Amino acid sequence: MTPPTGSELAVPDGFLMGAATSAHQVEGNNTASDWWALEHTPGTFVAEPSGDAADSYHRWPEDMDLLSELGFNAYRFSVEWARIEPEPGRISRAALAHYRSMVRGAVERGLTPLVTLHHFTSPRWFSDRGGWHHGDAPEAFAAYTRTALEAVGEGVEQVATINEPNMLSLMYALRRLASEYGWQALGAGRESGAAAFDPARVEPDAVVTAALTEAHRRAGALLREAGLKAGWTIANQVYQAEPGAEEAAAAYAHPREDVFLEAARDDDWVGVQAYTRHRVGPDGPLPVPEGAPTTLTGWEVYPDALAEAVTHTVGTVGAHVPVIVTENGIATGDDTRRIAYTHRALASLARLIEQGADVRGYFHWSALDNYEWGTFKPTFGLIGVDPVTFARTPKPSARWLGALARAGRLPLVPPAAAC
Ligand code: BGC
Repeated sequence: MTPPTGSELAVPDGFLMGAATSAHQVEGNNTASDWWALEHTPGTFVAEPSGDAADSYHRWPEDMDLLSELGFNAYRFSVEWARIEPEPGRISRAALAHYRSMVRGAVERGLTPLVTLHHFTSPRWFSDRGGWHHGDAPEAFAAYTRTALEAVGEGVEQVATINEPNMLSLMYALRRLASEYGWQALGAGRESGAAAFDPARVEPDAVVTAALTEAHRRAGALLREAGLKAGWTIANQVYQAEPGAEEAAAAYAHPREDVFLEAARDDDWVGVQAYTRHRVGPDGPLPVPEGAPTTLTGWEVYPDALAEAVTHTVGTVGAHVPVIVTENGIATGDDTRRIAYTHRALASLARLIEQGADVRGYFHWSALDNYEWGTFKPTFGLIGVDPVTFARTPKPSARWLGALARAGRLPLVPPAAAC
């Protein structure tokens, strides 16, 4: 291995460099889940159902082969509660065996598995009885965690309990409004001024936030008892106060993000997931600045979000909890932009590591083009997937990032080209 040049940083020992997926977004046919039910309910925001997704339920060996051949040393994926417990208390031994094989398969290929227990989807039975509003929800999640340990108890070091609890809690609040006023009221038709609610002004559901926090605490204790390192992965929105709006921005950010970061203070690690920034003025959230470049999800292209999110996380959680970047990426059909965005994000992350930030890994979102919660259109993948044959094609970004992972380096200098 040649030593890094002055424009690169050698990553700390044991640094994880990989890519991430979630079960529902790549597996296909997750029919016992609440998302599958939502996708087949008329009149929602869902443009198309997940169907076969990327067929990773069957093609995971190929996905892992590719990631390891590309040079990555880690893979973040999730196990699906709806498959493991399709009916209350009825455990699918086949699903547990499937995920055990995935863990083993990752380890055999030199990929450290980072496993998420809950990535937005729950079993349909769980949601039908009230989901995270049901008084028993944390207990049901604890029981699922105990069961899932049969699949992830060996070969896995880090487990994420719940992915983006802040987005999940917000989704509950949005669904409640939609059930009262219809999805149209939440934005469809916003251009014509017909929306009654601006989703950016809707607050996460406080009951759900409390239930998720309790579920995380209990699951974390179970995982730790089993010798695993537990954390959760927060959507870091990089709230930026306009001058004079500091207080308004802090009040806006607290229920949407900081309350979840505060709940990570006793964790073994915390997951940072950052894509873009959100500006907040004295009267609340502001739109993307006029003329700013945007991605296929309509988000501002803002690669510095990653370092800003890590800094905010360390400031809120405390420097005693190590950070793992569990998601960062860009939805674009232009892979050159993906490389430029990621290069810039990594360069600012590398500066923080150089200054002493305890960052233990970086997972790009996503390993594969996948189902982006209602549509396949926004492509986040390092690897393209043919929707008919499911053939995988690594993009140049996959080779570029994989080569950095293999060399154990991060760029310290941002790219010359704009993102
Ligand atoms: C989620 C992913 C999602 C990605 C891009 C995160 O909110 O964890 O499931 O696909 O961001 O939107």
